[in-house]
Amino acid sequence: MQIIKTIKEINNQVVVLKKEGKNIGFAPTMGALHAGHITLIRQSRKENDVTVCSIFVNPTQFNDPKDFDKYPITLEKDMQQLVAAKCDILFLPSVAEMYPKGYGNKEKLDFGFLNNTLEGEFRPGHFDGMAQIVEKLLLAVEPTRLYMGQKDYQQAMICTELIKKRKMKTKLVLCPIKREKDGLAMSSRNVRLDKRSRAKAVEIVKVLRGVKRVVGQQTTDHGPRATASRRSTVDGQRIADIEQKAFKKLSSFPEFKVEYVAIRNAKTLRSVKVIDGKTPLVALVAAWIGGVRLIDNMLL
Ligand code: PAF
Repeated sequence: MQIIKTIKEINNQVVVLKKEGKNIGFAPTMGALHAGHITLIRQSRKENDVTVCSIFVNPTQFNDPKDFDKYPITLEKDMQQLVAAKCDILFLPSVAEMYPKGYGNKEKLDFGFLNNTLEGEFRPGHFDGMAQIVEKLLLAVEPTRLYMGQKDYQQAMICTELIKKRKMKTKLVLCPIKREKDGLAMSSRNVRLDKRSRAKAVEIVKVLRGVKRVVGQQTTDHGPRATASRRSTVDGQRIADIEQKAFKKLSSFPEFKVEYVAIRNAKTLRSVKVIDGKTPLVALVAAWIGGVRLIDNMLL
């Protein structure tokens, strides 16, 4: 695996690869790699000639400085995993190069609603910092395909918008969530969970599965004879009820401090009024446990 540490060097490499007509797959990460990240690398390898992974713990996307300080750094182990997964290039840029003018010069793209709801509401500024660094990385790597995990669902939606707004040619490939044996979504933050919190954290996916089960029932409940108007009022209420019940269920465990449980339109992330069996839906959760903030989601 080739290790590249400067933008100039990766740019030169990209020019050479493009001249040779090669496709580039790119998985941006903040390190502390786990099997979820490795699935991005593997998928990229299947679909591209060259796979690039970046590791950069981006200071501007941590709305909580304590979270930044505690973010696990495991570079040696990360590199071993990348070599084993046959990643071709590891891009390891420095803070000085990614932020030559300091952190203050944020030229913000306006993602509107997507930036203000759910994660945007609970982590103000997070997506501005994230989009800022992803843009810099995309300009440096110019990938044919960008690989992102479904666990950060809203992040991927914002990156799709970023690519559109900047008229980039990159195609975003969303990869399924990789889960631990008990169902907990893999996350770099999981290593910070103490034993008890780790055992309890599985309740998040259980709640999501519960929501999926209930929503599945709602769509078949009414049958073809239910009128559209009846269906919409009943379902609007039921969606709110399902969200509330799921929120209460997770909150009933004293270990959790739940931020949200939401059922949204999977394409727009807007609230849904009707479960019509056609609109794609996603359920999303954010909750604190043992001082660690976890997120998860499930397509319904
Ligand atoms: O998902 C992440 O690890 C980060 O948000 C990303 C996309 C690498 C940007 O820093």
